[in-house]
Order: sequence, then C-alpha cells, then structure tokens
Amino acid sequence: MGFVQKLAVIIIGLLGLCATMRSDPNTTVLQILCNGGEYSSGDPFGTSLAYVVAELEAVTPTRKDYDYYNISPYPNAFAYGHATCTKNLTSPDCTTCLAAADTTMFGACEKRIGARSVLHDCTIRYEQYPFSE
Ligand SMILES: *[C@@H]1O[C@H](CO)[C@@H](O)[C@H](O)[C@H]1NC(C)=O
Ligand SMILES: *[C@@H]1O[C@H](CO)[C@@H](O)[C@H](O)[C@H]1NC(C)=O
Repeated sequence: MGFVQKLAVIIIGLLGLCATMRSDPNTTVLQILCNGGEYSSGDPFGTSLAYVVAELEAVTPTRKDYDYYNISPYPNAFAYGHATCTKNLTSPDCTTCLAAADTTMFGACEKRIGARSVLHDCTIRYEQYPFSE
C-alpha cells in the first residue's frame, strides 16, 4: 500500500470511530407524573416555576455530574426543582435531552403544582415543597 492509501485507511477508520462514539441522547419517555392539583393563571407560582425550569435547563448541563437542585428566588410562591442527565452524555446532549423532557412534561401536565418527567437519559421534576429525589 502506498502512503496515500494508508492515510486514507487511517482517516476512514478514525471517521468510523467518531461515528460510533457520537450518539444522540435517548429521549424515550419512561415516566410522566402530574400532580392532580392545578394553579390558576394569575398565581405567582407560575413565575417561580418558569424561573426554576429555565435555570434547571441552563445550569444542569454545566454541572460535572449533571445533577442539579434549585429553588426560585421570589418569596411569594416557591418552586423547587431538580434535573439530571446520564453522565455519559455530552453537555449539548444533556441540553437537548432536558428540552425534550420539558416539552413532554408541560405537554402532559399543564398548570400543575408539581410534575416529573423521566426520560431514558435525563429527568426533570418540580414541586411546591422541597424534595431530595
Ligand atoms: C449512557 O449510559 C446508559 C447506561 O448507563 C445507557 O443506557 C445510555 O443509552 C447511554 N447513553 C448514551 C448516549 O450513550
Ligand atoms: C432508548 O431507551 C429505551 C427505554 O429505556 C430503550 O428501550 C431503547 O432501546 C433505547 N434506544 C436506544 C437507541 O438505545
């Protein structure tokens, strides 16, 4: 084999390796739980919830273990949140997965006081009370 052919074989091999290592996050929905209780349109909880979920989606992919708890900063209605991604995801894949978890959760649980979205590669949960799971 000449030099160019050897180089071609090496490059093709490397491309193949990259293709196997890169995989999309698995956003298969395993569980969606909606609290039966609803909040009304003017409820300040809606603002706290929006804050908490936006922060979960922004910060969780930047954490080393992709495991992040937060709490809304507004004192008139608290929202507590938690999100995780599978550790083998890349940070952008964690972002992608959490966006899918968000869409699924709010699609199924509109205006609920608590909800949980469990996808194969990530989770999001929020409540009106502190929790540790
Ligand atoms: C990450 O690892 C889990 C097992 O811990 C596996 O089920 C999942 O499919 C993997 N995801 C990716 C994107 O490799
Ligand atoms: C994604 O996750 C689901 C549920 O855990 C599993 O059945 C499926 O095989 C996974 N898909 C891939 C491509 O890994």
